[in-house]
Amino acid sequence: MSDFPKNFLWGAATSSHQVEGGNKLNDWWEWEMQGKAKEPSGEACEHYKRFKEDFDLAKGLNHNCHRFSLEWSRLEPEQGKIDEKEMAHYKEVILTLRELGLEPIVTINHFSIPLWFYRSGAWEQPDSPHIFSDFVEKMAEELGGLVDYWITLNEPLVYAYQGYIMGKWPPGKSDFYLSLKVIKNLIFAHVFSYEKIHLITRQRYSKIPRIGLSKHTIVFSPCNEKSLKDRFSTALRHNMANHFFIKSIMTGKIFIPGIFNEILPVKRAFDFIGVNYYSRDFVRNIGFSAPKILGEVCTLLHHREIGKRNFLDWEIYPEGLYVILKEFARYKLPLIITENGICAEDDNERANFILAHLKEVKRAIDEGIPVFGYIYWSLLDNFEWDKGFSPRFGLIEVDYKTQERKIRNSAIEYARVCKTGNLK
Ligand code: FCB
Repeated sequence: MSDFPKNFLWGAATSSHQVEGGNKLNDWWEWEMQGKAKEPSGEACEHYKRFKEDFDLAKGLNHNCHRFSLEWSRLEPEQGKIDEKEMAHYKEVILTLRELGLEPIVTINHFSIPLWFYRSGAWEQPDSPHIFSDFVEKMAEELGGLVDYWITLNEPLVYAYQGYIMGKWPPGKSDFYLSLKVIKNLIFAHVFSYEKIHLITRQRYSKIPRIGLSKHTIVFSPCNEKSLKDRFSTALRHNMANHFFIKSIMTGKIFIPGIFNEILPVKRAFDFIGVNYYSRDFVRNIGFSAPKILGEVCTLLHHREIGKRNFLDWEIYPEGLYVILKEFARYKLPLIITENGICAEDDNERANFILAHLKEVKRAIDEGIPVFGYIYWSLLDNFEWDKGFSPRFGLIEVDYKTQERKIRNSAIEYARVCKTGNLK
């Protein structure tokens, strides 16, 4: 008997800029050309040309869904002008998945943005939510008949954090208050998009779409269990990082005392929530003014003993996925793991990682939490943003010199679970 519900979605994810290759029209390309990433993405995995071959491999691994993203900059290279050839390309991508029996889970924006949008102020612009939702409207008109599951945005807080606090991603700024403005615009962008996709697919295609977003989640523990200050900052950071964005959309209100008190046009603009989960961090209090009150991530050596770490030094902490699913149950919405994965040199670690995390997913499901799918990050080794190509997350190994694909053993282990729904 299967350990997972009937019709459970099993698959893996990619995102356009990380795998497609050869696109010069977005912010990341420019950033890479300015030498600000570890290395340029170049041809990446040539997935733009090889998507059929890659989807065949996913099918052979018993996946029944696939998450990928539309490249906004290819589809709308100039504001207001949709490139018909690119539109046809993504239709073909979706139809290919459908023919193979893989449910397409379509992310509309996975970090990379068109240069024209970037240059006019990206998500800082007050009308950025409208600019984005105009694009979304066109996508719903074109693709609404072919797509059932939409993800408006991937990890909006990570985008704001890396681009506007850490300065490691475009636009490379470091301004806490500006990051809050960006977050506010991303919340509005999601809500406007949610409304538009619903309206268009109902009217034009007489069907009801399912729309969510992929929320980056992370578990935080206090650096020093006994320190009240550390525990306070940890709780606050946990709440801000994991719940603030979702809670704002659920309640229809963006509220940060003294900063925001904004009302959204609707409440509960979600049909499901996508959970991206990787790791846990330790937090130390560093003061009580904003933003110090959120503490800082502690990198002291003593925490290294707590759990194994991946190639990027992120702690492997499967129980955290259960913790997050339990907490997210409060939103009373279907949940799907839209990313969970490991970069590792030893592929045995990947197989163990997947099984250990699936055990936690099963534990949550057994307690009645409605999880309807698990999507591993990633189908292929790919371009890991500022870290370049060295982290290997793929179920399938990519030789970047020859573009040869090699199925890893962990992919075969996972394929067995996808087929039987059984962890043993
Ligand atoms: C997530 C991103 C994804 C990939 C993985 C490792 O935060 O959504 O693009 O970089 O991390």
